[in-house]
Amino acid sequence: MLNKRSIEKNLLQNLAAQTEIKVFDNVSSTNDIAKTIELSPEKVYAIITADHQSQGRGRMNRQFISPPAAGIYLSLLLPALPLDKLLLATPAAAVAAAEAVAETTGIFPSIKWVNDLYIDKKKIGGILTEAVTNYKTGQISHLVVGIGINCTDAGIPSDERNQIGSLNISHLDRNMLIAAVFNKLVAIFDSIKKDDISFMDKYRNLSNLIGKKVTVYRSHMDQSCCLDATAVDIDCSGNLVVEFADGTVEHLSSGEVSVREI
Ligand code: BTN
Repeated sequence: MLNKRSIEKNLLQNLAAQTEIKVFDNVSSTNDIAKTIELSPEKVYAIITADHQSQGRGRMNRQFISPPAAGIYLSLLLPALPLDKLLLATPAAAVAAAEAVAETTGIFPSIKWVNDLYIDKKKIGGILTEAVTNYKTGQISHLVVGIGINCTDAGIPSDERNQIGSLNISHLDRNMLIAAVFNKLVAIFDSIKKDDISFMDKYRNLSNLIGKKVTVYRSHMDQSCCLDATAVDIDCSGNLVVEFADGTVEHLSSGEVSVREI
C-alpha cells in the first residue's frame, strides 16, 4: 500500500521537512498534478504518487499503462537546474531510478538512452521530464520529473509482452523505492548545481547502447528517415555520440532523434 508516512520515514532526514508528499488513489497523470502544486514557503520539493493513473503518459505523448497497484507512478517537483544543464535532468533521474531499484530489490536495470529503464531487453520503466514556468517572470522555476516503473506484468497487453516487462515483484515496498529515488535524485541535482556532473559516468556505465549497432531515426514522426551507426559514447550534455559507416561522428540530441538497437 502506498502510504505518505512510510515514504516520509524513508526520506533522508534533512529532506523530510522540506518535502510536500501527496499520495492519491487514482489520478489522470501524476505529472499533471505536480505541475499545479503550489508549495508552501517552508517546502522546496514535492513527491506526488498514485496507485493508478488513467492517463499516464510518456515521451512523444505515448501512453504509459498504469494499472492499480502494479507499478510506481511518481512525479517529483524540484527547483529547476541552470538553463545550460536542464537536459541533464532526465539522465539524472534515470541514474537515480536505476540505483534505487538496485538498492531496494537487488535487480540491476540498464538505461536505454535517454529515458528508458530496461531489464533483459524489455522496457520496465521510463522518465518524462517537464518544465514549470513562472507566469510572472516567464522563467523555468521548477522541473517535474515523472518516473514510471512496472512492478508486475499486470496490465501489459499480451502483444507487447516481448518488449515491455516489469520488476516482477508483487510484494515490493513501493514506499521505500519512491523515497530512495527521491533521495538520490536530490543528491544528483545538488551536485549538478555545484558543477559536479560525475553522475554521467554512472549513466554511461548503466547504458545498454554504448558499443552497440543502432538505427538512428532523424525524426520521431518519420520512421523512414533512418541511418545505421554505432553508439560510441554519451557526452557531458547527455547527447548520444554515434559513428556512421563513413566515419562521421555526430552528437545527437534526444529531442531530434530516436534510436533503436539493431
Ligand atoms: C516514457 O516511457 O517515455 C516515460 C514514462 C513516464 C511515466 C511516468 S508515470 C508517472 C508520471 N506520470 C505520467 O503521466 N508519466 C510519468
